Amino acid sequence: MRNILVTGGLGYIGSHTVVELIKNNYTPIIIDNLSNTEFEVLERLESITNTKLNYYNIDICNGKALSEVFTKHQIEAVIHFAAFKAVGESVEQPLKYYINNINGLNTLLSTMETNNVKNIVFSSSCTVYGEPDSSPVNETAATKRANSPYGRTKQIGEDILQDCKFLNTVSLRYFNPIGAHPSSKIGELPLGIPNNLVPFITQTAAGIREKLTVFGSDYNTKDGTCIRDYIHVVDLADAHVKALTFIKENPENKFEVINIGTGNGLTVLEIINTFEKVNNIKLNYSIGPRRPGDVEKVWADASKAKLKLGWEAQLDLTEMLVSSWNWQLSLKNK
Ligand code: UFG
Repeated sequence: MRNILVTGGLGYIGSHTVVELIKNNYTPIIIDNLSNTEFEVLERLESITNTKLNYYNIDICNGKALSEVFTKHQIEAVIHFAAFKAVGESVEQPLKYYINNINGLNTLLSTMETNNVKNIVFSSSCTVYGEPDSSPVNETAATKRANSPYGRTKQIGEDILQDCKFLNTVSLRYFNPIGAHPSSKIGELPLGIPNNLVPFITQTAAGIREKLTVFGSDYNTKDGTCIRDYIHVVDLADAHVKALTFIKENPENKFEVINIGTGNGLTVLEIINTFEKVNNIKLNYSIGPRRPGDVEKVWADASKAKLKLGWEAQLDLTEMLVSSWNWQLSLKNK
């Protein structure tokens, strides 16, 4: 039995994880309500993997529909991506986030309990650290009050999972996922104006946005712009497969949090300069004011992932930024 329920399996990280699951002989059972993706992603996944996929258009808060999936398929483990993720929107509409992200998790967990499924990989975020006292940040660092309701749903989600002693949980704290599958058939599909740096860069390079604004150049960093740990989404997807192996090999595990990053901190200007260089493109950008709520610098201590999962990032910044650009170009030809 290798059935893995992938909630949000047609989203950005979910879709890349489906590819890695199939590569590793798992059978993904995808649920996704298409709230932040398109049905076409399913067809693209089927073409990349040459596999007919199990897919259900289900809202994560719909316990009845979820139960039917658990009855139909014997589920070995769940990888839970389905959640809203826009930081700014979560400040404007906090209840939308608390309802979907927390009620969705609770509905999923009670369905798992009823069906005697205990294995789960949770999609968490380095946002749980807030502004860390120092970087690289490791998993023992205190989680401070998150900067947004979105971030708090990740903190609360981890608390709920830790309280549910019937579970064997691995909570992966992602740093900044970027890049796309090398086939350019799947990637990030931002709705409207992108919030995140790399989709904004690629849309600007493609002429969809006029100009990128760098949010602040007076931070206490080497060039004054914020530092993040950017990680290739294909590497991130692979971490989920390795987390499933960890869960299987450690049946006594209750709750483990693991950072997933490269361990390298890069400034916004370094990302822009590298994007220009590796893709041979001049980017229209200027320096603007700080974005409220931004953390100055955060990057991962990724040693626990290596120790516990045997995982470390394989793909470098060039591969991240070339694949992001190729994905953007492929959207143009859609
Ligand atoms: N940035 C710009 N201009 C832009 C967009 C971003 O200068 O147009 C800068 C930001 O100020 C920040 C860096 O680029 O310094 C990265 O910003 P992103 O929005 O891409 O990423 P964040 O680190 O702010 O947020 C990401 C995810 C969140 C998650 C957070 C921590 O988008 O979901 O990491 O995990 F909560």
